Amino acid sequence: MIIKTKNKMLYREKIDKTRIPAHIAIIMDGNGRWAKERGHARTFGHQAGAETVHIIAEESARLGVKFLTLYTFSTENWNRPVDEVASLMSLLMDSIEEETFMKNNISFRIIGDTSRLPKDVLDRLKKCIENTSRNTGMCLTLALSYSSKWEITDAMKQIAGKVKRGELSVDEITDKTIDSHLATNYMPDPELLIRTGGEIRLSNYLLWQCAYSELYFCNTYWPDFKEEELCKAICDYQSRERRFGKTSEQL
Ligand code: IPE
Ligand code: IPE
Ligand code: MG
Repeated sequence: MIIKTKNKMLYREKIDKTRIPAHIAIIMDGNGRWAKERGHARTFGHQAGAETVHIIAEESARLGVKFLTLYTFSTENWNRPVDEVASLMSLLMDSIEEETFMKNNISFRIIGDTSRLPKDVLDRLKKCIENTSRNTGMCLTLALSYSSKWEITDAMKQIAGKVKRGELSVDEITDKTIDSHLATNYMPDPELLIRTGGEIRLSNYLLWQCAYSELYFCNTYWPDFKEEELCKAICDYQSRERRFGKTSEQL
């Protein structure tokens, strides 16, 4: 116990406060396996995972992270058993805690094909977005009914429409044009992408935006990913040399 506390302090203390990533994106994975290992239904894992969301959001805001983007429900997750989808939707309704956001000056947003969400869930989310929109601290975004291929396809449709109507010429299209038509156009690209739960894949998350992100994979299941795990991931990120194609000597 003493050693654990000591380690926790170590990662917190080791962080260089002047080099906190402005944007951290997280694939919150492992809720189901966490519950199964404890002899519980998957829903229990999702409930525990919802608590972790608040802990990590508060800690990120405290550390000075500007954007935290959490993969909460993917386009592919609609293919899960109907019961699991329903319980995830009702959990979403219940676990939106405006008080935590207000207390921490967090503004709340969502990205994804939200037209597929149940109306009551969407109304609740919209209310929270509106009520927290004047907060000036960290922006917490939930990716809901989200997939990168959906998002990029949608951006392509918008751009093609503008070309067709003569509002944009093909020669004017740059990577910045694509950036500005993505759902994430209000945030910088993530410097750090974390995936919990042991899988080494991106599962259709922020594929364009993570072109140069530092990737961090850990075995910890999402419900167990607490403050010290986040600090550990940030320390790992800070130990890396980001060269962006240059040589070390050029930096
Ligand atoms: C992540 O945990 C939460 C969602 C995808 C909604 P999982 O439910 O994928 O948990 P595992 O990966 O099956 O353990
Ligand atoms: C990715 O996790 C989606 C979310 C965390 C919301 P999944 O558990 O759905 O991904 P796969 O199936 O392992 O790729
Ligand atoms: Mg999973």
